[in-house]
Amino acid sequence: MAERKPALSTAAALIPEKAAFQQIREIAAGCQACDLYRNATQTVFGEGKLRARVMFVGEQPGHEEDLAGKPFVGPAGRLLDKALDRAGVSRDLVYVTNVVKHFKWEPRGKRRIHAKPNAGQIQACMPWLQAELRFVKPDAVVCLGATAAQALLGRSFRVTQQRGKWIESQWSAKTMATVHPSAILRAPDEETRRREMQRFIDDLTKIRDVLETPQAA
Ligand code: URA
Repeated sequence: MAERKPALSTAAALIPEKAAFQQIREIAAGCQACDLYRNATQTVFGEGKLRARVMFVGEQPGHEEDLAGKPFVGPAGRLLDKALDRAGVSRDLVYVTNVVKHFKWEPRGKRRIHAKPNAGQIQACMPWLQAELRFVKPDAVVCLGATAAQALLGRSFRVTQQRGKWIESQWSAKTMATVHPSAILRAPDEETRRREMQRFIDDLTKIRDVLETPQAA
């Protein structure tokens, strides 16, 4: 029988047992656990206060995030900032990251167009997100879109049916999924965009309860 090629090691193999958070971030910068590093500018690790009470998890960095090395700084990030502001939540109080840490894209003319990460790429990258969750220990996790929701809550999770509801998960006492801000940017008309933005703000407003509850010692 032909010998199977060894699978690419996942990021888990790169994380020393007693690593400090900063060390993990530095190791992630050289991650080659899947093929996405080949066409991306850099690893885009999460950002925010290490003990933030709320963690946002998106899908993967986009074109601007890939160049800046920071999550949610492009169009979707600006929409997220606006929605947080209208929900009365300061971005300074939350930790923001993605399931996949390298930008996956396809060329279209001179542009780099977002391409969806596959299950193998998501799985290979999960140890970085798990490490972020272990260190930040958020009271609440907000999944932005289906990729994040299904990576953290299971493949059968449907954002359309279960959005905006806190559920207990292995990641935090409160986990919620809502739409990805890019979905609002892609709304077919102004009226839909306005309505979807308001629903998004309503979901994010629920974070205020978490931030206003005294933190456990
Ligand atoms: N979309 C995401 O899911 N994450 C980012 O950081 C930017 C866009």
